[in-house]
Amino acid sequence: MKKRIFSGMRPTGSLHIGHLSVLQNWVKLQDEYECFFGVVDWHALTTGYEDKLNLKELTKEMALDWLSVGLDPQKCAIFAQSQVKEHAELHLLLSMFTPISWLERVPTYKDQIQQLGSEGKDLHTYGFLGYPLLMAADILVYKAAVVPVGEDQIPHIEFCREIARRFNHLFDKVFPEPKELIGEVPLLPGVDGRKMSKSYNNAISLTASPDEIGFRVRQMVTDPQRIRKDDPGHPEVCVVYKFHKIYSPDVTTIEQECREGKIGCVACKKYLAENIDKVLAPCRERRQMWASEDKVEQVLAEGAEKARAVAGQTLDEVRKVMGF
Ligand code: TRP
Repeated sequence: MKKRIFSGMRPTGSLHIGHLSVLQNWVKLQDEYECFFGVVDWHALTTGYEDKLNLKELTKEMALDWLSVGLDPQKCAIFAQSQVKEHAELHLLLSMFTPISWLERVPTYKDQIQQLGSEGKDLHTYGFLGYPLLMAADILVYKAAVVPVGEDQIPHIEFCREIARRFNHLFDKVFPEPKELIGEVPLLPGVDGRKMSKSYNNAISLTASPDEIGFRVRQMVTDPQRIRKDDPGHPEVCVVYKFHKIYSPDVTTIEQECREGKIGCVACKKYLAENIDKVLAPCRERRQMWASEDKVEQVLAEGAEKARAVAGQTLDEVRKVMGF
């Protein structure tokens, strides 16, 4: 039997190449594991309850991004959290024995209240406090053994294990304790050197055309000490170089030519843009294939059905041991 995986992302708008390595990692996992990938639309509300989000659209957009990178609905279940109500029932049942102090102790909790508070969001809500518990329910409802996540999510997985342990101790041994799987995620800056983010307008979108890629790469900040083409360069301070390290197999040659002043920034950028396009072109092609509204809706409907079959079994067990 294949081990089971659950992972999810909040539908916060279309993805950029900073998200690519996470998704490529999921694509690799879909052969080896039984995978459930959820667009966690309820989670989007925990911080965005005032934002009038069009969650249906955002969810479809995210599913299409996933499909374009190569997630295959024949191999994994792709669905929206809100379409599998078992997540909500499990969240409710777990909440009955979850100490509030455990939730308040999750490291991101107070930080986020502060940070988003300064942006005008009041996160002193029941839903936001329960964010990690809803996440635990997402994972446990599939009895997932493995959860691929970024490093920032480790405290949430640890919390999930504590909830599993508490349930097993109070009722019966139903839940395995999940392990995080930390994928290698190279940190890519935006074209201006700050964190890559759609809201900074410094990102390369997964859907970027060759022209858009070229435009963004031309905006990348280079070594300020290089004025003429044959000045020796310092790749360590250059944004273009950071991208070459990921997208260009012959990065050592480029580095050397830069240091020796043999390749100018214009040529170096053109070459990078070509290499980024080699990765994004197949994504654009797959996107074309899936891009009809009906197809994505069908993927989400079938994914939810697969997910419900497993989640339903878990809930049967949970209800039974809890006395329902
Ligand atoms: N909290 C995760 C994030 O922000 C998203 C998420 C929700 C998740 N539920 C999950 C990730 C369950 C893994 C498993 O990235």
